[in-house]
Amino acid sequence: MNSTPMIKATNLKKSYGELEAVKGISFEIARGEVFGLLGPNGAGKSTTIAMLTGLMKPTDGTVKVAGDELSSKANHLKRKIGFIPQELALYPTLSAYDNLLFFGRIYGLHGKILRSRVDEVLEMVSLKDRAKDQIETYSGGMKRRINIAAGLLHQPEVLFLDEPTVGVDPQSRNAIFESIEGLNQQGLTILYTTHYMEEAERLCHRVAIIDHGQIIALDAPQSMIHSLGGGLVRVGLMNGKLPAFHTKILELSSVKDAQTIESELMVQAHNTRNALVDMLEVANQMDATITSLEIHEPNLETVFLNLTGRSLRN
Ligand SMILES: Nc1ncnc2c1ncn2[C@@H]1O[C@H](COP(=O)(O)OP(=O)(O)OP(=O)(O)O)[C@@H](O)[C@H]1O
Ligand SMILES: [Mg+2]
Repeated sequence: MNSTPMIKATNLKKSYGELEAVKGISFEIARGEVFGLLGPNGAGKSTTIAMLTGLMKPTDGTVKVAGDELSSKANHLKRKIGFIPQELALYPTLSAYDNLLFFGRIYGLHGKILRSRVDEVLEMVSLKDRAKDQIETYSGGMKRRINIAAGLLHQPEVLFLDEPTVGVDPQSRNAIFESIEGLNQQGLTILYTTHYMEEAERLCHRVAIIDHGQIIALDAPQSMIHSLGGGLVRVGLMNGKLPAFHTKILELSSVKDAQTIESELMVQAHNTRNALVDMLEVANQMDATITSLEIHEPNLETVFLNLTGRSLRN
């Protein structure tokens, strides 16, 4: 087993003029791992991918691919990388097959080898039977799958997928998941960005939750979810009684932990129903009026809510 990380990002930063889109993020992706970047619109996911794939120069920080630093001259490293951008890039009037021949030539593939690679990648995305049809006759999800096939032609060691399921029909979505799982089983390292927490939960070994250009949590999805205990109770109180309430409810055996975010309390409960009853009693004793109350199941969406006080999608 090679223990050098496939990808190592150290203190990556990117500014667009005044805007600091990525504010110094660091993480490693092990060989064979499916690593997720989960975050809301504008969090900095695509900007991060652009730096990791060498398409964009970081304002600061470094990227290592298989132990070597990525730079504009590192063509041997770029060949290890496959990138499926958020926006589709296909020729609508050409067939899927001809599109793939075209992209293969860009990667320097020719003749028999090129044709057999095209067949292989079509197989990987389960679209061999439609290969001779023009792209413009494809559904959004099928186009997306051909785009994925294009990124696999040169046999990369690490594949970057930027929100590959946005605007995709359920059937193609499943086909994409199955392709990703199959490719990973064959040893491909994968970085996957999404703002759908169910996808991150299903596909990723580890997930970095990114918000406003920073990683606010990084762990296995199940570990993050486990940290919420039985679920999250979000409580708002009237008239400045929140700090005292916060202190008191931490003593409850039904409460695992709690944080105040702005004017609300995020309570991780061992059991949400017991915690609710106990907290109502505390509020009564304090003569505090509860202004809002929500119960959230333990999942990655709730992990994000717990950390930010906001939901992942608006
Ligand atoms: N070329 C650019 N010029 C100026 N600002 C940019 C540019 N690209 C992105 N930004 C800004 O940088 C921030 C991060 O954008 P980015 O596209 O990386 O987010 P994202 O997480 O990929 O979002 P989405 O889920 O919408 O794709 C946003 O505020 C965005 O408006
Ligand atoms: Mg994006």
